[in-house]
Amino acid sequence: MIRLKGIWKRFGELEVLRGLDLEVQRGETLVLLGRSGCGKSVTLRIILGLLRPDAGRVYIDGTDVTDFDERRWVEVRKRMGMVFQASALFDSLTVRDNVAYYLEEHTDLPEERIDEIVAERLEFVGLAGTEDMMPAQLSGGMRKRVALARAMAANPEILLYDEPTTGLDPITARTINQLIRKTQEAYHVTSIVVTHELDSAFAVADRVAVMNGGEIIFVGTVDEVKACEDPFVKDFLMGPTWQEGRALTR
Ligand SMILES: Nc1ncnc2c1ncn2[C@@H]1O[C@H](COP(=O)(O)OP(=O)(O)OP(=O)(O)O)[C@@H](O)[C@H]1O
Ligand SMILES: [Mg+2]
Repeated sequence: MIRLKGIWKRFGELEVLRGLDLEVQRGETLVLLGRSGCGKSVTLRIILGLLRPDAGRVYIDGTDVTDFDERRWVEVRKRMGMVFQASALFDSLTVRDNVAYYLEEHTDLPEERIDEIVAERLEFVGLAGTEDMMPAQLSGGMRKRVALARAMAANPEILLYDEPTTGLDPITARTINQLIRKTQEAYHVTSIVVTHELDSAFAVADRVAVMNGGEIIFVGTVDEVKACEDPFVKDFLMGPTWQEGRALTR
């Protein structure tokens, strides 16, 4: 459903992506793990066509979209929803207008139908009846759920989540993880979830991809990543504990 082939991207002197390859199968949830600043958000923005790669190809559902102009990217983006890092709700709009935003901008649906869709999506994320609230009145977990309802408004085939649980307490994070699974099951979406929280990664992933040095250095199932012997992957997964354990066994 999504295929990145040999993607290079630099900002000035900083070479962020160095020939990155990634394939995401239709209907799966792939978790993208990596250190802060390694280029996870940049990768998502390339998939959304918000950033253009310096080299390499981007395929969406088998079509090479790399050289699409903005008009054609708008069409591609209609098939995608994005839950941005830090939710990125419009603070001056109600919950209803946030969730309805895309439908108001890009469809000719009558208001009553939009209201129905908004109500459905809010119910799906466990926030029925919050239409008239303002973002400032919502907790962090509620904001994430509104952001998901907004991303799902137009029935996307692809959902991209950037750090959906960062900054939430463990219980709220768990409800968001469950919601990501529930969304996949109910809507059969293809998802990429960017996170550096391992509990979340293991809870939602069909497969895990680990990024380092501008490349994907490992892709596999949760069990495979846990068994991976690559030193970077081990350090990343087990952190100081593994380091200490290794020091002790020396
Ligand atoms: N538009 C931009 N212009 C210049 N530099 C950028 C731009 N976008 C990203 N970068 C740089 O690219 C690098 C990767 O950024 P990115 O946001 O993808 O990191 P990340 O893996 O998402 O990190 P985090 O986990 O902290 O969100 C960073 O060094 C960042 O400063
Ligand atoms: Mg990021």
